[in-house]
Amino acid sequence: MAAEIRTVGVLGCGLMGSGIVEVCAKAGFSTLVLEQGEEALMAGMRKIQGSLGRAVERKRLGAEEATQIESRISGTTTVEDLAPADLVIEAVVEDLGLKKELFSALDRLCSEATIFASNTSSLTITELAGATDRADRFAGLHFFNPVPVMKLVEVVRAVRTSAETFERAFAFAKSIGKEPIACKDSSGFVVNRLLVPYILGAVRAVEAGVASVPDIDKGMMLGCGHPMGPLTLLDFVGLDTTHRIAEIMFEEYKDPLFASPPLLRRMVLAGYHGKKSGRGFYDWSGDKPVPSELGL
Ligand code: CAA
Ligand code: NAD
Repeated sequence: MAAEIRTVGVLGCGLMGSGIVEVCAKAGFSTLVLEQGEEALMAGMRKIQGSLGRAVERKRLGAEEATQIESRISGTTTVEDLAPADLVIEAVVEDLGLKKELFSALDRLCSEATIFASNTSSLTITELAGATDRADRFAGLHFFNPVPVMKLVEVVRAVRTSAETFERAFAFAKSIGKEPIACKDSSGFVVNRLLVPYILGAVRAVEAGVASVPDIDKGMMLGCGHPMGPLTLLDFVGLDTTHRIAEIMFEEYKDPLFASPPLLRRMVLAGYHGKKSGRGFYDWSGDKPVPSELGL
């Protein structure tokens, strides 16, 4: 019988990893998080503290509870420290080589019973699982940004994922207060298969001069009832991440719907990675976002 999940290991403490750490620790799991260096680890920890602090301010969480949640989180820059994890959730940058390298290292360090999962947006779970000798204990757990708020987790069954692993991953998602859906190992799963062409379409609308950036956003918010427009959402997700996702999905499907538009590539090259870098389609450095000058 597989061991109970008590300790969760999270790889990467960026936008997604920090949110995943927060929800796991909040659900009572002892949570270990790996970053590539001290500076990135401290930045990730600050994100978690900031998010918990806001929850306390808004009276969604008691101050004592927030302290207890923080005490369940340990950060490290040494991969060996993740050895005790019963479940590993990978959330490093969308780079196949790096993800495979980390999973391969952890395969040698973790117990036989440990389940591995990736939060990849677009890579193939079957390929990631192939970097280990535990393809039967490997699944996808795809969270949504911002993780503490968004209810969905796509639980992905790859070619060799065992029924038991899939069920345990599904039950884990429920145990941290999420609403899981079952998906096959198809690049982009359900949500990104539909969302990525929509977001890329908004960038193409900017390129074509159809309307201004704020008006494209306003159009989708007021015309379709979306909580935020596609270009604001792109700034939230990250232009670098979305560009990588589009490239991976285009390579998989060879469908122009997934081709990353030249403007997106140029903005990434210019360092406009969205809200996390201070600038994307909007400049986020002030109190309110203002449209960026894009040289169009
Ligand atoms: N962390 C924690 N809590 C947050 C948060 C964050 N980053 N951002 C917002 N919140 C909380 C707020 O504190 C607030 O809570 P209270 O009502 O208790 O105060 C609540 O969420 C609502 O926030 P706001 O009132 O500030 O703003 P809002 O009503 O516009 O909601 C939003 C914010 C939930 C992010 C909403 O705009 C939304 O749903 N946007 C779309 C998000 C989306 O589509 N995400 C999916 C991206 S795609 C993806 O993730 C997959 C991929 O692979 C790329
Ligand atoms: P991010 O750039 O915010 O964070 C990635 C983190 O990985 C960074 O903090 C980086 O320092 C860290 N990292 C890099 N190399 C590392 C290493 N060797 N060891 C440990 N950490 C390392 O990116 P993100 O938006 O959090 O995306 C992470 C993953 O989640 C990607 O696979 C992405 O496709 C997926 N995802 C992103 C979103 C989104 O909305 N941004 C939503 C769902 C899934």
